[in-house]
Amino acid sequence: MTFLWGAATSSHQIEGGNRHNDWWQWEASGNIEGGALSGDATDHWHRFEEDLKLAADLGLNTYRFSIEWSRVEPKEGQWDKSALDWYLALVLECEKRGLQPMVTLLHFTIPQWLAEKGGFTWEHSAEKFAGFTRKVAQHLGAHVPLWCTLNEPNVMVLGQYLAGFMPPAVYNPKLAAVASRNLLLAHIRAYDILHEIKERRGPWASTPLMVGFANNMIDFAPLRRAHPAESILARLFRRFYNSAWPDAVMGRRQHFGVRGLVPFARQVGEGRGRRTCDFIGINYYTRVYVCFGPQQRVVNFARFRSLPVGVCFSREGERVSDLGWVLHPRGMGRMIRYLGRHKVPLIITENGIADHRDQLRPEYLQTHLMEIADMIAKGYDVRGYYHWSLLDNFEWIKGFVPRFGLYEVDYGSFARTPRGSAQQYAQIIARHGGGPPLREKLSSLNDRVPAGLATASAS
Ligand code: FCB
Repeated sequence: MTFLWGAATSSHQIEGGNRHNDWWQWEASGNIEGGALSGDATDHWHRFEEDLKLAADLGLNTYRFSIEWSRVEPKEGQWDKSALDWYLALVLECEKRGLQPMVTLLHFTIPQWLAEKGGFTWEHSAEKFAGFTRKVAQHLGAHVPLWCTLNEPNVMVLGQYLAGFMPPAVYNPKLAAVASRNLLLAHIRAYDILHEIKERRGPWASTPLMVGFANNMIDFAPLRRAHPAESILARLFRRFYNSAWPDAVMGRRQHFGVRGLVPFARQVGEGRGRRTCDFIGINYYTRVYVCFGPQQRVVNFARFRSLPVGVCFSREGERVSDLGWVLHPRGMGRMIRYLGRHKVPLIITENGIADHRDQLRPEYLQTHLMEIADMIAKGYDVRGYYHWSLLDNFEWIKGFVPRFGLYEVDYGSFARTPRGSAQQYAQIIARHGGGPPLREKLSSLNDRVPAGLATASAS
């Protein structure tokens, strides 16, 4: 079986001009650091052919992107065929470039009309999402072998209803529980609709259809090693944050609340006792430390509202990314082991680092792939790796400052230039020839850069 060597992006972060979604308005109200606006983003909407060429230049055999619901259905019930045609063109361009498309249906942004009705807290939201999924499936579904229904529903609900980093940024645990429930229902509906696609076309027509979702995973740890409360809390965080969604799509319990603390959501009957995923996507970046009590001395301590509990992103002296996230490759292996118990294929749907000078990314890439290699060698069923991201992009509330791209984007001219780590990734892929990552093939970083890439910069 060919290992999926890929890179990931999302619509709102790269396309530009997504004026009909909830973020566009929220940005205009000054919610992004430095007052940034997504605006033209990377202008991918007009440059997708060039960008897919850049992906193919790396030797990737797959590309993960998302479809912007607010383009396809800018007003409730009004479908924009030209937007659907654009996504079909993107999928066909993937075919031309030998990139198996993985299509994400919801990557954080929702149409503004839906936001005005309460987003996923609205009782009809799952049905609306099903309608959107049906349109996409009819229009381009025949060409798509890999689907990711939802990107990080755990982060989305946290950002929208608990921690204030996504619109509508309200604090309401009850709404968080309701939204989680409706998102699960939306996922299940989409899973069934996608599996009804009968006709398959293109180079992957006979590849088994796989539908999954991407779960953000964090290797929570106590800030103080032997601190009993912090140790218990870290275990609790791991359990709810990392497991709630995998458990739910595997047909097990739906942990979308904590009895007595956070309102319990009404359970989704259709999700019980039935597996509604063919793979689980792991979006893994870092570890986070859980702290108990006032931790004023910790620089990046963020406290939860009304609770003496908080998190911080590094211990003193640790090496961190431009966003202050600690480098912790071992967590990748731990997350794979953690989900291994579900006995379902795993795909690393995101992994990457904000590193504008590209000083840490080569090591980050190599060491995380080594962890994956070790887990595959131990028998874990990991089918692919998508680096976040192909290009620098609009990093949500942080604006354009964090640079996650294998390709650097000049936001003045929109020129794309490969970073050293792009060349390194290309080298790694070439060396594996479509096979899974192997530790011995990852150990030396100093090989020659594949011919052509060094001059692949496009403007
Ligand atoms: C993930 C998101 C992705 C990107 C990376 C850095 O949580 O899915 O859109 O912002 O973080």
